[in-house]
Amino acid sequence: MKDKPQYIAFEGIDGAGKTTQAKLFQSFLASINIKSLLTKEPGGTPVGIKIKEILLENKVYKETELLLFLADRSQHIREVVKPNIEKNFIVVSDRSLYSTIAYQGFGKGIDVKFLHKLSSFTNNKLFPQLVFLIDMQPEVCVMRCKKRDKEKSESISFLKKVREGYLKLSEKKTFFIVDGQKDIATLHEDIVKIWNKL
Ligand code: TMP
Repeated sequence: MKDKPQYIAFEGIDGAGKTTQAKLFQSFLASINIKSLLTKEPGGTPVGIKIKEILLENKVYKETELLLFLADRSQHIREVVKPNIEKNFIVVSDRSLYSTIAYQGFGKGIDVKFLHKLSSFTNNKLFPQLVFLIDMQPEVCVMRCKKRDKEKSESISFLKKVREGYLKLSEKKTFFIVDGQKDIATLHEDIVKIWNKL
């Protein structure tokens, strides 16, 4: 277990399947008796749940939205991520700071460098050491979200920009792109294979 990443994030555009894969991955860790925790952003703490409600129920300016996502993350990192890492748990997080960079930065045009600066304040020097990017075409994702009757669904053109952002971010060596078009079980196997090789 030594040297395996302890903070793992699943990223992707809405409807790509990251929530399913994050759950499967954490169940896999549990099945091999590795102490782990599944969590998410936004809404991974009681404060975060309230922030998520504000985001869902109100139309807010993009600057306000950014600060709400950061407030959610600031609480989540300190209340959930850090203490569990200190207890030697592997933290599997459905979304992370990279959602902010992709959605608010590449998607909504807020300066990416500025977002990275803000993130170093919000994340208290704690960044995911491994990121699985579930890559998927926005057209398919939007169809999936409509079928699922998701509370808020994004436009194809917006998700295209977000996806481009994620693909740029995936140049980082902590990122692994996995193909969201594959069926759930095969995709899970791909993820486990990557993790096993680390
Ligand atoms: P979810 O569907 O994964 O719960 O995420 C909620 C929405 O919030 C999703 O459309 C992505 C978006 N989001 C951002 O725009 N910025 C962020 O920093 C995060 C964490 C999520």
